[in-house]
Amino acid sequence: MPSSKLLYRIFYSRKFKFILPALIIALILLSIYIYNVYLSPRESIGYVEGEIVYLPLPRIRKDVLSVEEALAYRRSIRDYRNESLTIEQLSQLLWAAYGITEPRRGFKTSPSAGATYPLEIYVVIKSGGVRTENNTYLQPGVYHYDPYKHVLVLVKKGDFSRELMRASLDQEWVGSAPINIVIAAVFERTTRYYGERGVRYVYMEVGHAGQNIYLEATALGLGCVVVGAFYDEDVKEIVGLKDDEEPMYIIPVGVPKKSYRVSEEEIHQYILRNRGG
Ligand SMILES: Cc1cc2nc3c(=O)[nH]c(=O)nc-3n(C[C@H](O)[C@H](O)[C@H](O)COP(=O)(O)O)c2cc1C
Repeated sequence: MPSSKLLYRIFYSRKFKFILPALIIALILLSIYIYNVYLSPRESIGYVEGEIVYLPLPRIRKDVLSVEEALAYRRSIRDYRNESLTIEQLSQLLWAAYGITEPRRGFKTSPSAGATYPLEIYVVIKSGGVRTENNTYLQPGVYHYDPYKHVLVLVKKGDFSRELMRASLDQEWVGSAPINIVIAAVFERTTRYYGERGVRYVYMEVGHAGQNIYLEATALGLGCVVVGAFYDEDVKEIVGLKDDEEPMYIIPVGVPKKSYRVSEEEIHQYILRNRGG
């Protein structure tokens, strides 16, 4: 039988009428699977799987403020718009605070005495505080940042921003910000090597990470403030810190109502006035 005749027979057979739609459906499903697993840019936009938020991979952008501009425009900002942050912004802030910059040894953006890395970074996300690429929101809760995988792991579900505000002597900016980054420290990781002197090293390191967040927030057009006034035990409980983790800083971050700007000239005039010139 010539092959064209055979094809004709198959095509018009009864069985084929059922097989064809099944084949088409299978093909569509296979294409969706291939797109999702191999082709979709999900690593760059981030995705959620169960209790793990795979943050968008950190970017080292060249089209943002210079370090000097970020230093000049950094200000403690306490007034935020009622707007969410994007998951990309959250990703950049966390990477800036304590992300990996030296893949061979796992060294980070913040310097650390003897590379002992005593800090643990948490984020308290408000309801509607962080939106993802497809315009859904991360579920409110407390998350722990794992810098090695650049993921957030859900610690506690729920909106704890009001409780955190109360624990921070009712500082409104803690309650109004879409996110609060909480820096905790495990002193023992550093004092094990440096004894009592390690205590001061830990405080220094919290300052480094805090300043990194300030500068990254400025570069992203966001505003933040470091908050040191809070009840340790209350914050520990709200965030669900482990026994050996001490809360050091709460850093609300939001979209500022007003950004701060200063010119080189204004700074020069100030310095020259002080010189008496
Ligand atoms: C260790 C420390 C603790 C701070 N605690 C608070 C705080 O609890 N609440 C607050 O609104 N600002 C707090 N700040 C921010 C300072 O008020 C702010 O840095 C200062 O007014 C200078 O303003 P600037 O950051 O815009 O330069 C703290 C700053 C530091 C360094």
